[in-house]
Amino acid sequence: MATTNPEPARRGADDPDRRLRVVVLHGPNLNLLGQREPGIYGAETLDQINQRITALGRQLDPPVTVHTFQSNHEGEIVDAIQQFGGASDGIIINPAAFTHYSIAVRDALAAVAKPTVEVHLSNVHAREEFRHVSVTASVVTGQVVGLGSVGYELALRFLAGHLTPRDDA
Ligand code: DQA
Repeated sequence: MATTNPEPARRGADDPDRRLRVVVLHGPNLNLLGQREPGIYGAETLDQINQRITALGRQLDPPVTVHTFQSNHEGEIVDAIQQFGGASDGIIINPAAFTHYSIAVRDALAAVAKPTVEVHLSNVHAREEFRHVSVTASVVTGQVVGLGSVGYELALRFLAGHLTPRDDA
């Protein structure tokens, strides 16, 4: 089942502070963080990670409104890239297993063409060979790999420093 936080993804043109908007998308099985192979993925839950990056967004200059979304379903990730990604200034995505084979996720990222950081908690290059391939890598701005949940924070700090708010929202 898809989960989403209540932070609005859209910013109206009348919004006086013209905050940046970043959507953070988490792919399959990341809802199990905290209990799922903690030796690889860490002890933190997805909720804890989402809360931390949402709070970080508020502290950044310019402030960033962070919208988070997780789904185990490929089509829902594609929809979220189109809908939330399209309405955001930038995207942070951990496509999880979809990284390694989902042309649909890759094509959605290419279609919305937003500055995008791909995050992996684990060092995928030090793991099974099938994890060495990322079909999304060629359509994102860059990757943060193997630094645990800090990777999301680094991605958000990068985007905050490189984005300008859209005028047409
Ligand atoms: C992952 C790595 C993927 O290979 C794996 O399928 C995941 C998580 C990571 O964050 O390290 O589910 O994206």
